[in-house]
Amino acid sequence: MAKWLAHARFIIGALALLFVVAVAAPAQAQQPSQVNPTADAVKEDQLLQQMKIISGRGTIPDAKSYNIEQPAGRDWRGFHQVTLPWITAIVILGILTVLVVFYLIRGMVKIESGRSGRVLVRFNAFERFVHWTTATCFIILAITGLNITVGKNTLLPLLGPDAFSAWSQWGKYAHNYLSFPFTLGVIVIALIWIAGNIPNRIDVEWFKRGGGIVGHDHPPAYRFNAGQKMIYWIVVLGGAAIAASGYILMFPFYTTDVTGMQWAQVAHGIVAVLFIAAMLGHIYIGTIGMEGAFEAMGTGTVDVNWAREHHSLWLEQENAKVGPNETQRQPVHPHATPAE
Ligand code: HEM
Repeated sequence: MAKWLAHARFIIGALALLFVVAVAAPAQAQQPSQVNPTADAVKEDQLLQQMKIISGRGTIPDAKSYNIEQPAGRDWRGFHQVTLPWITAIVILGILTVLVVFYLIRGMVKIESGRSGRVLVRFNAFERFVHWTTATCFIILAITGLNITVGKNTLLPLLGPDAFSAWSQWGKYAHNYLSFPFTLGVIVIALIWIAGNIPNRIDVEWFKRGGGIVGHDHPPAYRFNAGQKMIYWIVVLGGAAIAASGYILMFPFYTTDVTGMQWAQVAHGIVAVLFIAAMLGHIYIGTIGMEGAFEAMGTGTVDVNWAREHHSLWLEQENAKVGPNETQRQPVHPHATPAE
């Protein structure tokens, strides 16, 4: 009997334990459903708004990585992903449209008195080398930079992920390494041409008379007219701004915190697009916009009549160096026929 009772006690105890486990386990499993994700998200959002930052704890030395989210980060992401691509598209397509329309209305600015067949040196070999090195770097920096801003929206669908990744990787290397010769080029340009690019009263007159581009006037100018002086200062100041912001991005967190990095990217992106727009205008005038301009940077010489129409005061200075008889100037080639 005692043995039977012991068995019965054991079975009842086991059943009771089974019951407790069976009831408790689902209750435990139900626990997470008592969490309300929406309410928690609202709490987290309030926390984020009040504290401006959500940080965790970490073990690696870089404490910056403990920040999970901050409102400024979301604003910056919106700028980078949406606002900047739109600004870029509008400014660049806008300037291209303006240049095409201007060309259709104005056409090429001709040498009105025709070519004289005699030339004078405008840019020596060193000046041309610096110009073309800097310009080549600029064009590659612009293309590879624009790839970062709008490549994902434009090229990725065309090239597919593999080709786009490979191109972007090479683009990024090019952007980083060519920044150095570009910066050097801007510094040398700043030094060698500063003397001719200080604004003066002649520039005001030049602007008032439309610079010879709007209309058919030929306002006097020394070696660089007011339009070219503007390009010089855009290159020097824009180059300084883009280099400073670019090196902050290239060497992250050496000089600033995450907010500074975000500002550097905003500045770099905006200066880049304005810089590109200005250089498109510069390229237009140096090629199809004005007869005789390209050869100044191509061969290094310009026709005497071109100089007289666009830089009359500079021609006077140059003539004073060789004597008043400018027909002594070097002919383009022995059989050139003067138009005069
Ligand atoms: C000293 C010269 C320069 C340096 C050090 C530099 C550096 C950088 C760096 C580090 C980035 C970030 C790349 C990334 O997110 O991985 C960048 C982006 C960019 N750069 Fe430059 N850069 C320079 C010149 C230029 C020039 C001359 C242009 C254009 C004419 C340019 C246009 C851009 C553009 C459009 C971006 C992408 C902006 C964005 O959407 O985030 N950069 N640059």
